[in-house]
Amino acid sequence: MRYRPRNYRDENPEVFSQLVKNNPYMARVYDFPELLIPHPTPENFQQLWTNIIKETSGAAPSRKIHLEIGCGSGRYLIEWAQENQQDAFIGLELRFKRLVLAAKKIERQNIRNILLMREHGEFIDEYLPHNSIDCLHINFPDPWSKKTRRKHRILSTDFLAKMHPFFRPKGELRFKTDHLEYFETITDILKEIDTYKIAEHTADLHRSNYNENNILTEFEMLFKSKGNPPIAFLRAEAL
Ligand SMILES: C[S@@+](CC[C@H](N)C(=O)[O-])C[C@H]1O[C@@H](n2cnc3c(N)ncnc32)[C@H](O)[C@@H]1O
Repeated sequence: MRYRPRNYRDENPEVFSQLVKNNPYMARVYDFPELLIPHPTPENFQQLWTNIIKETSGAAPSRKIHLEIGCGSGRYLIEWAQENQQDAFIGLELRFKRLVLAAKKIERQNIRNILLMREHGEFIDEYLPHNSIDCLHINFPDPWSKKTRRKHRILSTDFLAKMHPFFRPKGELRFKTDHLEYFETITDILKEIDTYKIAEHTADLHRSNYNENNILTEFEMLFKSKGNPPIAFLRAEAL
């Protein structure tokens, strides 16, 4: 069994009240039971996900399933979901405050096709079956720049191999980063393995033709306001 974060609220309320003093968002993640799962299990995921699927305007098999790993405060996820109301979206994030900010926006705008979970992207296989994801979005993942720390990167040869069976036919990975070395490493891996094909690729998204349809993330907006360094983007198809 893998480690799951403790549920102090239910298991040890005294410790929980101390933790909440330092980070009030630890309590606020419980305020959105219809759309945010603070302690996901395959069972509570399935319950909520079934509701979300019902709320989409699309029908299988044309309804697409999107997964964003590290969705932050949800800017990108929300805009994608609003533009594609026939599709269903899962956002995974670890930080309490970012989850609460995303959930507040989703609730305020009455968006019904997004489910948020406090979960590591690496464990999505516990929730979704093979052949279920149409689009995997990973934007500005932590680059773990130091060589000795690179094993912590979410995108890697192993992760791409693990995720491959979860894609539906024509499933795609969309990846943006400001970290050129990370981008080149993933580009090289994708070129090497024969299970993915790079369909779109640019080391300078904002000055490329792909920019027209680009949806900005919070981090991307921040970069734009701080001198607009080149942002790299690729879209790869799972074969
Ligand atoms: C640099 S931020 C980018 C946030 C957002 N994608 C954006 O572009 O504005 C990376 C985010 O990924 C989250 N994160 C890091 N590792 C993760 C993991 N293994 N699974 C899910 N989220 C993760 C972090 O908490 C953080 O909010």
